Amino acid sequence: MTAIAHAAGYTIVESASLTGRNTFRVPARAALLLDVRNPAALAELFGYAALKTQPVLVLGEGSNILFTRDWPGVVLSMATRGIQVVDDDGEHARVRVEAGENWNDFVHWAVGHGYAGLENLVLIPGTVGAAPIQNIGAYGVEVREFIAAVEAWDREAGALVRLANAECAFAYRDSVFKQQRERYVVTAVEFDLPRRRELRTDYAGVGDELAALGITTPTPAAVAEAIARLRTRKLPDPALIGNAGSFFKNPLVERTVAERLRAEHPALPAWPAGAAQTKLSAAWLIEACGFKGLREGDAAVSERHALVLVNHGHATGAQLWALAERIRAGVRARFGVEIEPEPRVV
Ligand code: FAD
Ligand code: EPU
Repeated sequence: MTAIAHAAGYTIVESASLTGRNTFRVPARAALLLDVRNPAALAELFGYAALKTQPVLVLGEGSNILFTRDWPGVVLSMATRGIQVVDDDGEHARVRVEAGENWNDFVHWAVGHGYAGLENLVLIPGTVGAAPIQNIGAYGVEVREFIAAVEAWDREAGALVRLANAECAFAYRDSVFKQQRERYVVTAVEFDLPRRRELRTDYAGVGDELAALGITTPTPAAVAEAIARLRTRKLPDPALIGNAGSFFKNPLVERTVAERLRAEHPALPAWPAGAAQTKLSAAWLIEACGFKGLREGDAAVSERHALVLVNHGHATGAQLWALAERIRAGVRARFGVEIEPEPRVV
């Protein structure tokens, strides 16, 4: 690995290992790895032939990506930092955060500064810049509720652009940035954070966890603590065992399909999703097929949570992907339901 440039605002490394940059910890290399510390450098960088002709992959903390092979082009990481309160009228604040900030640190910053809402999204790994990509969500809240605008380098326009919330096409685990992933490099996110908000404690388990903590009048900090405890119990820690959180999205099916499945399998968890659709629990479908805990070499389905694939040590991305394909085929054969991967699969 050779560093070939240390120009103002960015670093370039040739043939760089990505093993330490993805939470599955699978081996992969990038032909060129670019760490950008100054967003102003993007205009210069995207002017270079290498970035015009080679495939560009934007990488955050690598907690929602599976490399099944090396990346033949440029891997670009936004390493920019900064949280700035742009405006605060005592009720709401407009807060602008650079893409490279750590998401969980920002949640703690917000709770610590007296803003409400983000506490349900505590302990989600990754960067602030990646949060809008799949519209991260947990415990009854999605980040889109708090995003005022997203700033991005638009490779089509060759300029920095600002997309208002309504232009981001946010949906369950989806956005315009995910749909047009070659086009946008998110550089900063502007949040609209309320000081007062009805706390969301209705998601299964949150009320019990608050009660176990002896909390009767919850604050955002208490909700964050309860959810952090729940998450730590339920999900394997990527610092200890490689994983990318949920490997599949919960499938959306026609309401009539869900009704038929629920008639046969009354225990199948299901949630209404709009007028005509129902969201089914992928974890339940996978567990019902007998895949929970299944291990093929070092690639496995977590024993804790059926939706999480784990790397017990030396699994490759290709082996994890083969296991994922087997699970998908099993769920399709048994229930006639298609489950889609949540992480980006390279
Ligand atoms: P990466 O994994 O590096 O990238 C993910 C995708 O975003 C890639 O397609 C990448 O190209 C793109 N991307 C990243 N940064 C940018 C940028 N600046 N501009 C343009 N594109 C970019 N997710 C949830 O929604 N809810 C959860 O509860 C949740 N729990 C998790 C628990 C665990 C243990 C783990 C490991 C993951 C979990 N995730 C969850 C998934 C993951 O944390 C999120 O998707 C997170 O936003 C990914 O951030 P990242 O910086 O690691 O992105
Ligand atoms: N379940 C099983 N077997 C399991 C685990 C769960 O049958 O091994 C069933 C249980 O009945 C449970 C239901 O699935 O009640 C839902 O489980 P959980 O509350 O863990 O939520 P999930 O649907 O599996 C989703 C998100 C998570 C998010 C949690 C909490 C997706 C794909 N996943 O998981 O996000 O943290 O809800 O809100 O929507 C991620 O995206 O990476 C992620 C971890």
